[in-house]
Amino acid sequence: MKMADSFFLCFLLFILLNPSSSLANHASELVNEVCVKTSNYTFCVESLYSDPHTPEADSYGLAVIAFRLAYINATTTRDYILKLLKKASSNSSIRRNLQRCASDYYKAVSAIETAYNDLNSETFFELADLAAVASRSADDCEASYKRTRNSPFTSLNKALKGLCEICVAISKRFTGS
Ligand SMILES: *[C@@H]1O[C@H](CO)[C@@H](O)[C@H](O)[C@H]1NC(C)=O
Ligand SMILES: *[C@@H]1O[C@H](CO)[C@@H](O)[C@H](O)[C@H]1NC(C)=O
Ligand SMILES: *[C@@H]1O[C@H](CO)[C@@H](O)[C@H](O)[C@H]1NC(C)=O
Repeated sequence: MKMADSFFLCFLLFILLNPSSSLANHASELVNEVCVKTSNYTFCVESLYSDPHTPEADSYGLAVIAFRLAYINATTTRDYILKLLKKASSNSSIRRNLQRCASDYYKAVSAIETAYNDLNSETFFELADLAAVASRSADDCEASYKRTRNSPFTSLNKALKGLCEICVAISKRFTGS
């Protein structure tokens, strides 16, 4: 074998055997790195892969995807709560809880919107904090039903918290914390 040939063969082997140099593996490797930092790996992977761009996304692209998922979720839940509020009974305790959750979700949406704008201008330092604000809003909504233990929003609050957790994990890649 000629010198150049064997060199090429070594190079080819290196490419094939080095998992991080393969493009296809690289994306799932990134998702894996992010998702092991969250409390529910399955939820994280499933959520991120619900977006068709996830396999090719780099860190920045994945952050955009994660915040977009959180944004869609928070706005959908907020609008659902507003709908319930509109047709809510005159029962004041029911109305009070719905109003608190509506205001929580306004706050969550606003924080995620700010994060999204930050991402657009490649400003990364407050991303994790903003995701945490949104997550705490879901906590606050859930807490308003603590005494009566009849929260109608438990699974929705959990979903937003889970999505925010993904946002936090990705955001920390930019700030190295
Ligand atoms: C984790 O997420 C999966 C998929 O969404 C869900 O089925 C499961 O119940 C979650 N596990 C916990 C402990 O919340
Ligand atoms: C997001 O929000 C929708 C509508 O409120 C909900 O049905 C869904 O389960 C939520 N979770 C995820 C992970 O998208
Ligand atoms: C209002 O709703 C709450 C929660 O469903 C219930 O416990 C309470 O008895 C209701 N109050 C009135 C005045 O109907």
